[in-house]
Amino acid sequence: MISKVRQRKLINSALKVLKHSYSPHSGFKVGSALLSKNGKIYAGTNVEFDAFSLTICAERSALFNGISGGEKKFTAIAVATSSDKFIYPCGLCRQALVEFNPDMEVILITKSKKVKSFILKDVMPNYFKLNRV
Ligand code: THU
Repeated sequence: MISKVRQRKLINSALKVLKHSYSPHSGFKVGSALLSKNGKIYAGTNVEFDAFSLTICAERSALFNGISGGEKKFTAIAVATSSDKFIYPCGLCRQALVEFNPDMEVILITKSKKVKSFILKDVMPNYFKLNRV
């Protein structure tokens, strides 16, 4: 588990980038903030396109930012949405994140700022891993 101070910073980053969500089609805003092992935060939001299938989720958006920043190790991700229910990362994002760290802490934040957290591998049993030959 990350410290309360780090968790607070990560949540604030997710809430900040949530405002940048570009979601003209669904109207569903998602903001995500990924914490690297060396303490840096990489934010990402969902981006939707008229060609619907090009849409990218906030979690993978943050992950791409982290990788582009030269990071490979991540300890936690905060995901804030415009919903009043807890929204869990989709299957694609779970797979993308679990490949980097199955023990990653996932922190969910609702519109009214309720918070809950869990460990990624607990919602991704038997995840795909390439068995290199
Ligand atoms: N979305 C995310 O950003 N993360 C998820 O884990 C699930 C869905 C976005 C994609 C799309 O812009 C909107 O939410 C509705 O599906």
